Amino acid sequence: METELVVIDEKHINAEAEEAIKHAGEIIKQGGLVAFPTETVYGLGGDALNPESSKKIYAAKGRPSDNPLIVHIADIEDIEYITDGVSEAARKLAKAYWPGPLTMIMNKSDKVPFETTGGLGTVAIRMPNNKIALELIKASGGYIAAPSANTSGRPSPTVARYCVEDLDGKINMIIDGGQVGIGLESTIVDLTSDVPMILRPGYITADMIKKVLGEVSIDKTIIDSSSTLKPKAPGMKYKHYAPKGTLTIVSGAQEDVVRYINSETEKARLEGKRTGVIGTDSTVSLYKADTVKNLGKRDDENTIAHELFKALREFDDEGVDIMFSESFDDSGIGQAIMNRLLKAAGHNVVFL
Ligand code: TXA
Ligand code: MG
Repeated sequence: METELVVIDEKHINAEAEEAIKHAGEIIKQGGLVAFPTETVYGLGGDALNPESSKKIYAAKGRPSDNPLIVHIADIEDIEYITDGVSEAARKLAKAYWPGPLTMIMNKSDKVPFETTGGLGTVAIRMPNNKIALELIKASGGYIAAPSANTSGRPSPTVARYCVEDLDGKINMIIDGGQVGIGLESTIVDLTSDVPMILRPGYITADMIKKVLGEVSIDKTIIDSSSTLKPKAPGMKYKHYAPKGTLTIVSGAQEDVVRYINSETEKARLEGKRTGVIGTDSTVSLYKADTVKNLGKRDDENTIAHELFKALREFDDEGVDIMFSESFDDSGIGQAIMNRLLKAAGHNVVFL
């Protein structure tokens, strides 16, 4: 299949861009697939109400079909049609954080096919905060099922180039809307349990949800590496975000971390391996690996979140075999950063 590529500037959606979005909407209405930018990561969109579209999404990503998709909407009122009723909690959260990086799980209506929800009776819903995404959702009939636009298991794309890398020839169109703002996928909160529960940490933190609802719990499996329980979001059980080489997180005092990583990368290099390190402003000049990524200032969590997936992807592009990353503080959005990093490393952590 020939994949069309169009470039659209989110800040200047001119007549030509509107035309392209309309065209993309038609593709989705007819059962095709379009990759598009959101504020979190790029999504791979199809008609959420069309079971054939969802099947195509799973096929294009190579994703297990028991891993449900998020339905993206552009109008809060559209929740009604795809759920069996909208709770007070859902309304409050939507009002506070939509459009934005928050996905809510609710009981689905019979309008949503089980192909979209991976066989579950619940549906994940989010309204993205990106103009291109919102216009596209409207142009396509209102309900776009969209997982991250990567091959299953790889880091989610933060630029269109990575959608091309993973999906060129497999989908109808890719909309290049530049680099995304946040860089990590949305927070997922399950509103079907007695106490709302975070199933995937993201930019919207537990504290931010607590502020609106008064209470929230966190699925333990997402932060505890020793947990043997099954995560409640089916997707969280799969190996994810992983670069092709081996990644180890090193935790400890800065000096010790630098010394340990330098000694390990030196060993790996003597074995003929290409080495890589993920560090921060204050440490990158101290590392001796073949390739060193700087995620920015240690206390600037938003930048770290923004840069993480790009760094992991670049390691792949550069053919790095052995990688080490510094560990990060897990408060606020740091919890999402560490959740993704731990998954990318297969929970391989060295404590010094
Ligand atoms: O930021 C995001 O959420 C991005 C952009 C494109 O919107 N999307 C995204 O989708 O990250 P995906 O498919 O890569 O991740 C969706 C996660 C998976 O872990 C899946 O198991 C979980 O959401 N999920 C979806 N529906 C669910 C449901 N009904 N119950 C529990 N977990 C669900
Ligand atoms: Mg994903």
